[in-house]
Amino acid sequence: METPVVNLSDEELKTVYDPSEDSYLLIDALEADLEILHATKPVICLEIGSGSGIVITALAMALKRYNGHCIAIDINPDACRATKRTSLVNSVDIDVLHMNLLDCIQIRYTFDVILFNPPYVVTEYEEALDNRLIFKTWAGGKNGRQVMEQIFTTIPKILSDAGLFYLVVIKENDPEYILSVFQKLGMSGKIIRERKVRGEYLYILRFCKVRSDEISLTLH
Ligand SMILES: C[S@@+](CC[C@H](N)C(=O)[O-])C[C@H]1O[C@@H](n2cnc3c(N)ncnc32)[C@H](O)[C@@H]1O
Repeated sequence: METPVVNLSDEELKTVYDPSEDSYLLIDALEADLEILHATKPVICLEIGSGSGIVITALAMALKRYNGHCIAIDINPDACRATKRTSLVNSVDIDVLHMNLLDCIQIRYTFDVILFNPPYVVTEYEEALDNRLIFKTWAGGKNGRQVMEQIFTTIPKILSDAGLFYLVVIKENDPEYILSVFQKLGMSGKIIRERKVRGEYLYILRFCKVRSDEISLTLH
């Protein structure tokens, strides 16, 4: 999988997340899953919190041959602009929505791939509500799950039957707890990648619908 070219100006770096180990670990996980992703021929892919756009652009480039449609969401308008630019610089075109999480996504739409590298750092409750845009890149509130948890129940409703949901978490978010939450929502998940970077344990969780027997058999 090709790593997209990303150019963030000093001004943008004041609010937009500079791609880091977590972004690259998610790209690595997608690269390792490319065979599965090609087999499912995703039609619509969605990234929540796209930041610079590096991850969704990497996915769009890898799946270009299927003429699929990639959509990115971010609460930060600067990140939305950066995502659009990153996609165009890398010769793919991503539709970008300036939006809070999945607020305007209607349940009747389904996505074949959903990605979320959320603000996961454990902070005070209030910090996760801070309106400063740079806080939105990392402040995860209680257990670091305050932001990500808001979309958990929506995921099974908007993921297609053979769809895959990828979530970046750290040890403090309690990956096993998150897996159990999704199990109760009828989704099966596992840790597909992990890395320790500068004292931070990063994990990539991948979920699919339990009902999708065919894909479950293929997943390793
Ligand atoms: C850790 S950064 C990840 C950026 C990028 N996906 C990457 O991997 O490099 C988290 C991203 O989520 C966005 N974000 C945080 N809260 C959000 C919300 N409520 N709705 C939409 N996006 C949000 C932030 O603006 C930021 O771009």
